[in-house]
Amino acid sequence: MSTASQEIGTHLDACLAQAVAADARMADVAAVIAACAAAAIDVSAVIGRGALGGDLAAQGEHNSDGDVQKALDVLAHERFTEALRGAPVAEVASEEAEGVMVLNPGAPLAVAIDPLDGSSNIGVNMAVGTIFGIRPAVVRAGDPIASFTDPGTAQLAAGFITYGPATSLVVTLGAGTQIYTLDREAGAFRLTHPQLTVPAQSNEYAINASNARHWDTPVKAYIEDCLRGTEGPRDRDCNMRWLGSLVADAQRVLMRGGVFLYPGDNRKGYAQGRLRLLYEAAPVAMLMEQAGAGATDGERRILDIAATGVHERVPLVFGSAEEVTTVATYYGGRNPAAGRSPLFGQRGLIRS
Ligand code: AHG
Ligand code: MN
Ligand code: MN
Repeated sequence: MSTASQEIGTHLDACLAQAVAADARMADVAAVIAACAAAAIDVSAVIGRGALGGDLAAQGEHNSDGDVQKALDVLAHERFTEALRGAPVAEVASEEAEGVMVLNPGAPLAVAIDPLDGSSNIGVNMAVGTIFGIRPAVVRAGDPIASFTDPGTAQLAAGFITYGPATSLVVTLGAGTQIYTLDREAGAFRLTHPQLTVPAQSNEYAINASNARHWDTPVKAYIEDCLRGTEGPRDRDCNMRWLGSLVADAQRVLMRGGVFLYPGDNRKGYAQGRLRLLYEAAPVAMLMEQAGAGATDGERRILDIAATGVHERVPLVFGSAEEVTTVATYYGGRNPAAGRSPLFGQRGLIRS
């Protein structure tokens, strides 16, 4: 859906109708996006009431990835699953369900979804979100996850909703990345950013620095060079942001550039990092590439990676294209300047 020519303020439904008029094959995808938008408006209203609506952070069971499910995780999972059941969706792979859920057998599409991203921000009035990736449904005898084992390039569309000061829908149908902002009076999303282009260079990085001692050497060297600023090989000072919510960090990167890293590290269970390929990394990677940015696992393009399990984790680096490329040069010793740290020497600030 190339909306570059579309008027700011156009309603999402009108933009989707134009995309379908331009390519009738997008009709089913458009219906799924409309269903997600409707669910997002409901979830946004719940989040917007904060503690007035009860304890959204109340803890329940553990999900299949071992995370404690909070009340809002479950509410969002149920609301989006119900909305997708009314759309042409055969199957859903959700963070909050152990296996693939069958909704409408024979329907053309499959959806991977993180119903509520940034759960550690629930209950403290910080931004959270919902992430989804839409791909063709695949039926293969004896393979219950067949719809989700092609690389991310199989995605037909992807998006996330950020429940922040404003509620925004960031979406791509494969022809650029757009942002729609919720007009609460109208009860509809309206186009506010017809065509995002991520700056190729940036001085801003996002990483959970409390894990520094667990990172592998390339990541330590890259962050150390960011910390050295004008006194190091990068010759420019950097700024750091870490919001604890992938959608919030991703929206900032899409709007002003930067690089986000959640690498693998040597904590138990974190060899492949924390983020999941199907319903976090792959949708974000499509949105980034459609906005001229990059997304890798440090070295490999995320969209080329095929999942072998619904909740498979993958290290994730995304953002300004030149920065993502720079990170890759720290792997395999391809960056001669990397890690020259007289400032920190071998007993560096973050060197083991
Ligand atoms: P989720 O709440 O869906 O499990 O996702 C949380 C993710 C992501 O949103 C965020 O970038 C990351 O976890 C934060 O991880 P740390 O708490 O380890 O920093
Ligand atoms: Mn998440
Ligand atoms: Mn989640």
